[in-house]
Amino acid sequence: MANTKDKIIEIFEQNRGKVISGEIIANEIGISRNAVWKYIQILTSEGYDISKEKGKGYIFKKENDVLSKEGIKKYLNFETGNIYVYDKVSSTNDLLKTKSEENEWTVICACEQEKGKGRLGRSFYSPKDTGVYFSVLIKPTFSIEYSTFLTTACAVSVCNAINKIFNGLNPKIKWVNDIMIDEKKVCGILTEAQYSVENSMFDYVIVGIGINIYTPNGGFPDDIKSIASQLTQEKEEDIKNKIVAYVLNEYHSLYSQIGKGDYIASLYKDMSMVIGKNVTVIRGESKRNAKVLDIDNKCRLIVKYDDGEDGCLSSGEISIKVKKDE
Ligand code: BTN
Repeated sequence: MANTKDKIIEIFEQNRGKVISGEIIANEIGISRNAVWKYIQILTSEGYDISKEKGKGYIFKKENDVLSKEGIKKYLNFETGNIYVYDKVSSTNDLLKTKSEENEWTVICACEQEKGKGRLGRSFYSPKDTGVYFSVLIKPTFSIEYSTFLTTACAVSVCNAINKIFNGLNPKIKWVNDIMIDEKKVCGILTEAQYSVENSMFDYVIVGIGINIYTPNGGFPDDIKSIASQLTQEKEEDIKNKIVAYVLNEYHSLYSQIGKGDYIASLYKDMSMVIGKNVTVIRGESKRNAKVLDIDNKCRLIVKYDDGEDGCLSSGEISIKVKKDE
């Protein structure tokens, strides 16, 4: 059941940019006009831009760009599980693990993460309000041999979503889980799973996606400022809700193709930025230089090491660093 605040946001979302009277809102929800006014104070304090037209009502400004359940739902083309939106969490992946009993496609979104997690034990910088950080719960019925595709299908989905919303950004995928624009990272994906050893099936999978939409206030920290970027410098209308929903729509649709032939791998390969590049392959302490020759139908990286040895890399414990073209 939606609470009163969610219902007010829903009414405003359906009337973006238009005047709507306090009386209509009050009647639709069954509360007093004074209560509406109080909720509007709360929404304003949460960052919504709502103006008052004397004698006419309220205007929920078209430009509002605040993440909300109702705002996300507006763009969704399928039935998700619950959608939770928080101002600040430790990590949306970790929080979703505590809700793993819920239905598939339950989603947790946050405006900020205190301990955003990246692959291989790294952290993911998740500052307040300039990015979106969200995790989705899925319960695959296919075997764990397809696990790589959970991440690679998501990477393709993020690129598709960016292409649908923005013109000409040309996002590319850096194997295996980074989305890059102009060779800088704008998004990372972390897939975590619990599976049953007995039957080689997943109990559940959590796919976490962090997207830098705007430049963080004060810029990116020194340690990532040369490698991180954002989708836009301009304030965009309702971009946060839109990007979360578009990624979910794309992912829901591609997810249904996992296990059906080479479709995901071919999309992934088309969006890869690493084929033909010189890279350093990093596995724990070991670093080896190689050239990327191809990506195969299991989304593995086919490389030739500088000493002539051939390699076929599954993501597991491996990451790569792409060298600048000479
Ligand atoms: C990486 O860059 O290695 C992966 C980054 C994944 C970040 C997302 S943000 C939402 C979700 N919650 C987390 O703690 N991490 C993922």
